[in-house]
Amino acid sequence: MKALEARGLAKTYAAAGGNDPLQALSDVSLELGAGEFVSLVGPSGCGKSTLLRILAGLVAPSAGVVFLDGEQPEVLLGRVGYMPQDDLLMAWRTTLDNVTVGLELAGVSRADARVQARAELARFGLEGFERHWPRALSGGMRQRAALLRTFLAGRNVLLLDEPLGALDALTREEMREWLLEVWEADRKTILLVTHDVEEAVFLSDRVYVMSGRPGRVRATVDVPLRRPRAQELTTAPEFIALEQAVRAPLREARAGLV
Ligand SMILES: Nc1ncnc2c1ncn2[C@@H]1O[C@H](COP(=O)(O)OP(=O)(O)OP(=O)(O)O)[C@@H](O)[C@H]1O
Ligand SMILES: [Mg+2]
Repeated sequence: MKALEARGLAKTYAAAGGNDPLQALSDVSLELGAGEFVSLVGPSGCGKSTLLRILAGLVAPSAGVVFLDGEQPEVLLGRVGYMPQDDLLMAWRTTLDNVTVGLELAGVSRADARVQARAELARFGLEGFERHWPRALSGGMRQRAALLRTFLAGRNVLLLDEPLGALDALTREEMREWLLEVWEADRKTILLVTHDVEEAVFLSDRVYVMSGRPGRVRATVDVPLRRPRAQELTTAPEFIALEQAVRAPLREARAGLV
């Protein structure tokens, strides 16, 4: 039984504001086993964020179904954790009160939510910054705060939309090792969107490559590299071969060939 399964998802956004209807996704199927780390890469605008919003229950698909633990939930919204592409930290809440939002929405009192959040601050590199406003955090800290908020909401399946996207290359390398450590400790099921092929291969058990819009799954690349993984792995021949297996279909998709 899969933790998350999508079958035949399609999405056409209705015409609005003088724009024609737009087909963002066409017949997307994918699956994540419990505890798997899976990445999604594809050209800009191919519908990756749309797909995550459908899986999070925020956008209704035009066709297709989503299963969680083998069942089709009546209401999908709130069943999985979701970190949007824009971190959406609230400027008027401190870091601590931002990361507790998911818990508070789930009905946990603010006092209890703060206790749970405080216990995780060190692991997410935010200790000492809990009373800072989001604007006083670095880009990496903002993203760790958004990740902590997503983790704290307590769901087994997490959808992360370019969680390391706003970071410089060096910080990204540190953050992806850190993200693997956090994942290995908790064994959540993760679906992560990224533009970075090396990052996708480094993190994942499997990489889905999407075509240009309307997005479809163009290739599926299994990544059987041993874990735990460290940065040195990225120069190993077997790693580079897997990167190529992702890059080739991605290049075709970016060129609009598929
Ligand atoms: N709410 C919306 N209404 C209408 N069209 C939308 C809406 N959201 C997204 N789109 C369109 O759907 C297509 C896919 O957008 P989406 O944001 O899902 O792509 P993406 O793969 O996440 O892109 P990127 O890699 O740049 O983040 C785009 O053409 C976009 O303009
Ligand atoms: Mg996107």
